Amino acid sequence: MTFICFKSKNNSFMTELSVMDKISSLCKRRGFIFQSSEIYGGLGSVWDYGPIGVELKRNVKNCWWKSVVQERMDMVGLDCAILMHPKVWKASGHVDGFADPLVDCKECNKRFRADHLDPTNDENIKECPSCKAKIDLRVTIPRMFNLMMKTGIGAVEDEGSVTYLRPETAQGIFVNFLNILDTTRKKLPFGVAQIGKSFRNEITPGNSTFRTREFEQMEIEYFVKPEEDSRWHESWINERFNWYIKLGIKKEHLRIRPHAKDELAHYAKACSDIEYEFPFGWSELEGIANRADFDLKQHEQFSGREMVYFDSQENKKIRPYIIEPSGGVDRAALAFLVDAYHEEKVKDQTRVVLKFSKEIAPIKVAILPLLKNRPPLVALAKDVAKSLISEIPLVYDDTAAIGKLYRRQDEVGTLYCVTVDVGSLEDKKVTVRDRDTMLQDRVDISQLKRYLKEKLTTE
Ligand code: GAP
Repeated sequence: MTFICFKSKNNSFMTELSVMDKISSLCKRRGFIFQSSEIYGGLGSVWDYGPIGVELKRNVKNCWWKSVVQERMDMVGLDCAILMHPKVWKASGHVDGFADPLVDCKECNKRFRADHLDPTNDENIKECPSCKAKIDLRVTIPRMFNLMMKTGIGAVEDEGSVTYLRPETAQGIFVNFLNILDTTRKKLPFGVAQIGKSFRNEITPGNSTFRTREFEQMEIEYFVKPEEDSRWHESWINERFNWYIKLGIKKEHLRIRPHAKDELAHYAKACSDIEYEFPFGWSELEGIANRADFDLKQHEQFSGREMVYFDSQENKKIRPYIIEPSGGVDRAALAFLVDAYHEEKVKDQTRVVLKFSKEIAPIKVAILPLLKNRPPLVALAKDVAKSLISEIPLVYDDTAAIGKLYRRQDEVGTLYCVTVDVGSLEDKKVTVRDRDTMLQDRVDISQLKRYLKEKLTTE
């Protein structure tokens, strides 16, 4: 990670290292994110999600699925295989075009993306990010490097066995277009949503889980009449922008950036990115592209199957245009984490708290006995936990003093801490502490489930 300066959310200057390093260290310490194969020294830009991180990621995916599939009548879901026929990647343009320009530094022999190198006064001469040597692009000509990860199928390793780990989930939706039409009888406009792993041999990864070699995508392919494409493109940009805000990201940390013509992917007629202001700068969270009829045309040509929709009202075949809102689960989870991160002064101490929204918070409730060496108290706390666990995502913790237990829960963004104390044995009441206000309520154990469920469902 570089020590660059950036402007923080509250407009004061600080180093990138301070915020991202604090968040990375919290992620490791509290079980959000671990480096893959850490005991072997780690694997470059591949990450594992720990016990808290997996809940965060699951909440992101569930909220997305609910909003784009379950709450809409014009959408259906799909779950395709990662491995696909190699011809898919010929048709999609990935075999020939999914490549970055790479250049080697002659001094340190490291390899970089030519278009990511810092410029000097002469546009042909760049600076090596590692050893600072000058790289003359007229002498060291960049070479194209395909980002797809190759793999083999079957017992014989020859050219015919080569396929790829998918670099996007989208192609699974395009090749199933006819199956979906046949089985759902959907009328235009309609969409198909999918969540799944994608793989790219990224050359300049970095910034935690922002750019990784294995990641998850949440993609929608929305099929529309060609003449309605612009309207639906606008509508999806707004829909997706508002989704992040509804789940707690501050509006001022988000922006929509339309692509310039020379930036568009080979398949896109237009595209706008939703960007988030990460500590390392404004960066893409999700792209919403108008892919026109590029993909259905390509697959028609390569497969020989006619990829069209029959419009019974107009009595004609239509090749729909496709609007594609395509986001990353890992990037969304990272943005929710960064946006939730707060440091507050409480009685001269710094309280670190993740202020996740109710939907995104990995843990909703923690049950904490005030004294761990009082068996009746521990037993009551466990009974309270058992009575809630099937309906409310919670944890039970009796491994430290109460101050430390609160700090742990604040750092993972737990919404409510329920403390069972000596008085609870007498009055059958517990103390419920609100994460954000730190105000406490004394609640009857018999009313606790209703109380918490009400809190968790109200705005
Ligand atoms: N089907 C279109 C497509 O894949 P993309 O802009 O290449 O478009 C869509 O990717 C989203 O997938 C990005 O906005 C980002 O959130 C996520 N994504 C792409 N590459 C990624 C990577 N290397 N690591 C993490 N997320 C990535």
